[in-house]
Amino acid sequence: MTVASRLESLGELRGRRVLVRSDLNVPLDGSTITDDGRVRASVPTIKELADAGARVVVISHLGRPKGEPEARYSLEPVARRLGELLGQDVAFASDTVGPSAQQTVDALQDGDVAVLENVRFDPGETSKDDDVRGAFADRLAQLADCFVSDGFGVVHRKQASVYDVARLLPHATGGLVSTEVDVLTRLTQNPDRPYAVVLGGAKVSDKLGVIGNLLGTADRLLIGGGMVFTFLKAQGHEVGKSLLEEDQLDTVRGYLDEAESKGVEIVLPVDIVAATAFSADADHEVVAADAIPADRLGLDIGPKSSALFAEKLSDTHTVFWNGPMGAFEMAPYAAGTKALAEALVQVTANGALTVVGGGDSAAAVRQLGFSDDQFGHISTGGGASLEYLEGKELPGLTVLEESD
Ligand code: 3PG
Ligand code: MG
Repeated sequence: MTVASRLESLGELRGRRVLVRSDLNVPLDGSTITDDGRVRASVPTIKELADAGARVVVISHLGRPKGEPEARYSLEPVARRLGELLGQDVAFASDTVGPSAQQTVDALQDGDVAVLENVRFDPGETSKDDDVRGAFADRLAQLADCFVSDGFGVVHRKQASVYDVARLLPHATGGLVSTEVDVLTRLTQNPDRPYAVVLGGAKVSDKLGVIGNLLGTADRLLIGGGMVFTFLKAQGHEVGKSLLEEDQLDTVRGYLDEAESKGVEIVLPVDIVAATAFSADADHEVVAADAIPADRLGLDIGPKSSALFAEKLSDTHTVFWNGPMGAFEMAPYAAGTKALAEALVQVTANGALTVVGGGDSAAAVRQLGFSDDQFGHISTGGGASLEYLEGKELPGLTVLEESD
């Protein structure tokens, strides 16, 4: 996939209203942003446009409201943060395409920036009905002269502000989307080998497609997080009260066989931190991965597994990592994720291309005290980067090519 059309393709921007689809979907605690990585990542394109004299209208979703306004999903605190990072006032419209949006856009001067309220407050944004989505996209398009697609985290969504609006306005990709696609292309086309993929997170069912595809491209697949227990069970081990997706056991057995026949090494944890309850205060101990007590649940990979994973990464030239190794939000279960991040930092220093995929994984490494520049690339898209690696068509990218 090439995503070539950059901002230059739009021509002179001074005085033109540019609608920018960013992904400002950040984790919030009340109105406090707990990880502003996505806002930071969105700044360069917005700044480039403002510096060029455009009247910049930023749109985004936040969370998953159900097509109507919900105060806890307001983008207002995010707009404030964007203003701080840009070092300029950012206007905020309290609706998406209503009177406030119109007034806010009309009041913009060259080089000004505005953020409109959460596009998912309108049912048209995520509607499955093309006409309903199209009607909302029409109203968004009326607020601008051209469109810049820069919300990488959402390019896998066929939604009005991502897909439909690109068909209505002259458009270009922003630098964030171009960079993300460039990096992911290096993983899918001829990766420098050995190429290892580390997958974590709760559910194997979220990762089925990508696992299937990776068995054709990666040399090693390291598995951690909640999905590990479905793998362990598929190998015939008891997993106690751990998260288990019974209905995926056959699929996972199929993957294990396929990996073996294709010569892809699947690396599973050899020890597990097993607790009596899903709680930081619960009694917990390290047990062998094939001896999880019946009354306990696994909440992290153990220290031997961390050492094993680090060893399996040590000679790699390319690594993609998505999903935490354990319930890292609780201190007793953070060690596995932290050790994995350290192993990635080490191979990055050795010259490997390391990519941390995903809003959640990115937030996890920052929360554990790592900085972005310790890794090759921290993607802003979790689902989007996985679907890219899966080889799926991403509507938000294909639309930019189709309508060129
Ligand atoms: C994300 O957080 O993965 C992106 O912002 C997309 O959000 P969504 O999964 O709610 O579409
Ligand atoms: Mg196009």
